[in-house]
Amino acid sequence: MEIAERIKEIKKEKNALILAHYYQSEEVQEVSDFIGDSLQLAQAAQKAESDIIVLCGVYFMAETAKILNENKKVLIPDKYAGCFLADNFSLSTLLKLKKLYSDHVVVSYINSSIDVKAESDIICTSSNAIKIIESIPKDKGIIFTPDKNLGNYLMNITGRKMILADSHCYVHVQFSVDMLLDVKERNLDAKIVAHPECEMPIITLADFVGSTSQILNFVSKDSSKKYIVLTEPGILYKMKKQNPDKEFIFLPPKDLSLGTENYCRTMKLITLENLLEALLYEKFEVIIEKELLEKAKKPIIKMMELSK
Ligand code: 13P
Ligand code: SF4
Repeated sequence: MEIAERIKEIKKEKNALILAHYYQSEEVQEVSDFIGDSLQLAQAAQKAESDIIVLCGVYFMAETAKILNENKKVLIPDKYAGCFLADNFSLSTLLKLKKLYSDHVVVSYINSSIDVKAESDIICTSSNAIKIIESIPKDKGIIFTPDKNLGNYLMNITGRKMILADSHCYVHVQFSVDMLLDVKERNLDAKIVAHPECEMPIITLADFVGSTSQILNFVSKDSSKKYIVLTEPGILYKMKKQNPDKEFIFLPPKDLSLGTENYCRTMKLITLENLLEALLYEKFEVIIEKELLEKAKKPIIKMMELSK
């Protein structure tokens, strides 16, 4: 039997729900029950009624699903599917910042470790970050972690000054201004859409900046026929499905040794094969110590309430 068919069969037998991020491979997205951005995945996990949730994405997404629905068994098909941005900001740096700026509100991007979340006042995703920052009283200072690029973008948009951490997404910093200008010159009718994890020189050239789901919405509603898309190419599967008559151009990474596609490698660790194994053997289960879970839950719930 084909792997995809077997996945569907076992999913039903075990009453499991498969949630996938837009950066997953086409085959994984095809067998999933729901595809979304970080916020949508968290919302879907929160209201899931299945016995098992399998999160096809990176670790912090599975961890967030567990935090929001702790009585469910939450699985991730590859336990090494981490997020570079989250993994490159440590709790100790946050604690130093908190000591120095003890009266500041700590806003952390959902792409962060559970330890960092537990020491934060509120979490945000790229789709609700502006709203979350604007919910903080104007006289309050803000520490923003861990993505300096999203932080810079938010300072620009909201006019708020923030103390920034210095992590970044290794995928989104691989877009080159030179390459972008070359492609734009050859495609003057194309609009540029970018994820806010991109660096500022790229952001300033974009016609639209938003989360993966916001980019998808924009290209579906917008009247142009061609787009230069500055985010991970997994998003193309949904883009093409929703807009079969439009053209989408993706840029390769500026470091050519990385290949021709600007992939998030850890997102791509999830395959049909390990998804099937996850369902069959119920691995790898996300286990979180109760006290830590409760501490990290508070700032996530605050975000969920503000995102309704
Ligand atoms: P979104 O929440 O916009 O899907 O972003 C998640 C992510 O990891 C982008 O690199
Ligand atoms: Fe993390 Fe970047 Fe991959 Fe998104 S694309 S999961 S931010 S490493």
